[in-house]
Amino acid sequence: MKIESVGVVGAGAMGSGIAQALAVAGINVVIIDVSDAALEKAKSTIDHSLQRLVSKGKLEDSEREAALARIVPSTEYTSLTSADMVVEAATENVDLKKRIIAQIETAARADAVIATNTSSISITALAAGLAQPSRFIGMHFFNPVPVMPLVEIIRGLQTSDETATTVHELTERIDKSPIGVRNSPGFVVNRILVPMINEAFFVLQEGLASAEDIDTGMKLGANHPIGPLALADLVGLDVCLSVMDVYLRDFGDPKYRACTLLRQLVEAGRLGRKTGRGVYDYSA
Ligand code: 3HC
Repeated sequence: MKIESVGVVGAGAMGSGIAQALAVAGINVVIIDVSDAALEKAKSTIDHSLQRLVSKGKLEDSEREAALARIVPSTEYTSLTSADMVVEAATENVDLKKRIIAQIETAARADAVIATNTSSISITALAAGLAQPSRFIGMHFFNPVPVMPLVEIIRGLQTSDETATTVHELTERIDKSPIGVRNSPGFVVNRILVPMINEAFFVLQEGLASAEDIDTGMKLGANHPIGPLALADLVGLDVCLSVMDVYLRDFGDPKYRACTLLRQLVEAGRLGRKTGRGVYDYSA
């Protein structure tokens, strides 16, 4: 199936980035969230990101305008009825995702593909809640979506070949590079990346170096574009913590225990850039 219109449910950082990537590629997008305020914020994030691409000469101003015009905000699931595909991009919480995916299945066309952008939840388990699990698949985007080229495509046990082929083709059409991954907690990239971020919190907690020096170390010593603590702030400390908790539960291996400092920062509401403060302070 050729995808021409996509519903994106969840207008946070990931949902708005996904909507933007789709719209730039000429696909019509309906973006859904519970409040008009969340949708307003998403529109302004997308506009800002598109402006950035224009100022770097990566996009024409007319393309920016056309992309923005292709994105229709809505608070109603009934707006999904014309979509060829729906991407769920809500918060990383299994019960919430199950609820939203069930609502999507009720609202969407019977032949629409349903994808979830999860960083760690089992695609097979999420698919099990659907009447038609063969049309369900994982599509894991990376933050910030407008600049990160990778999409992990994760098949659940129930996913059909047709669904997988459709989603691979769509990923290439939006100028991203797909990799096929077997369903397992954290898939491939986060399985490696998030324990590294967690380890950086242990290093900070043990006082081995300052946050700035830990990040400088990994930038200059391992050629990472940003340090692991700055990356935690970008991804969200709550996301990092919930991913570690899923690994600990699902693998049952204590090597995946979350660092106490990470947990405490999350308890304090210091979730990173999105709350203005994480490891670093962004309030200025
Ligand atoms: N929209 C549009 N363009 C953006 C952008 C956005 N939201 N954010 C950054 N850019 C562009 C900038 O315009 C700039 O373009 P240029 O190269 O043409 O000049 C380029 O990206 C670099 O940006 P900056 O110069 O502002 O800053 P940096 O050099 O620090 O780069 C970064 C920013 C690309 C985010 C870089 O820091 C990076 O690659 N960081 C690592 C990101 C990463 O590891 N992401 C994966 C996180 S894990 C994940 O998402 C999975 C989840 O499930 C947890």
